[in-house]
Amino acid sequence: MRGLFSFALCYNTLMRLNKYIAAAGVCSRRKADELIANGNVKVNGKVVREMGTNVEEGDSVSVNGTPIEANESKVYVVVNKPPGFVTSMSDDKDRPTVAQLVADIPERLFPVGRLDYNTTGLLIMTNDGDLTYTLTHPKHEVSKTYVATVAGVLSNVRLAKLRKGVDIGGFVTSPAQVRVLKQNPRSAVVEISIHEGKNRQVRKMFAAVGNKVQSLERTAIGDIRLGRLLQGHYRKLTRAEVEYLKSL
Ligand code: URA
Repeated sequence: MRGLFSFALCYNTLMRLNKYIAAAGVCSRRKADELIANGNVKVNGKVVREMGTNVEEGDSVSVNGTPIEANESKVYVVVNKPPGFVTSMSDDKDRPTVAQLVADIPERLFPVGRLDYNTTGLLIMTNDGDLTYTLTHPKHEVSKTYVATVAGVLSNVRLAKLRKGVDIGGFVTSPAQVRVLKQNPRSAVVEISIHEGKNRQVRKMFAAVGNKVQSLERTAIGDIRLGRLLQGHYRKLTRAEVEYLKSL
C-alpha cells in the first residue's frame, strides 16, 4: 500500500517482519507475531500471515491499514494525560486521544500501557517496541505510583487490607505500598504503589475495601516522576532516564 504516508525500508539486508514491526515501535515482537497471524499486517498491499516472513528494501509495510516505518530514530517522552483522553492512537467514538498530545513529534509514538479515560498523569510514549514490551510485561514488575482521592474515611483496617492484597474479582492483588496523604472529613488523598497492571486495578482495589475513587493520577513509573509537567504537555526523557527504563 503506497501513498502519501507510506515509507520505504532503508535496509540492504532482509529483516524479519516481526522485528520490523517492533522496530517501528508498534508493539513487541511477540505481539507482532499475533498481529501477523491475525491478518492485520500487509506487505506491499497483501496480507501476510506467515511467521518467518522477511522484508527488504523497497517493501512497504502496514499494520491495521496504517503504514509503518522501522528506520526512524527512537523517541521517548513522558506525557501528562488530562482527563477525557483515550490511551490509544485513534478512537471510534471520536474522543480525544493521547496521540494528539504528541502530534508535533514527527515520529509515530505509541502509549506504553494504558490509563483509564478519566485517569490523569504520567504516560510514557515511544516508538521503541522492545522498551514497551519490557515495561508492560508482568514478569518485570515495574512499580507504578498513583495518587487517588477516594470517598469516605480510609480506616486502618482498610489500609491494612490494601497493603496485604485484595480480591478484585478473581484476582488477589500482591502487596502494595499505601499511605494516606490527607484525611478530609468526607474524602482521603492516598498514595498507592503497585506492581501489577490489571484493568482499572487501583479503582477496583479501593472499591474492594469500600472507598470509591473520585480522581486518580499516576505520578511515577519506577523512578520516572511526573514532577511539575502540566496536563496536556510532554517532555522528552533524558538519556539517563531511558537507560534506567531499559535496565528494568
Ligand atoms: N488503575 C486504574 O484503576 N486506572 C488507571 O488508569 C490506572 C490504574
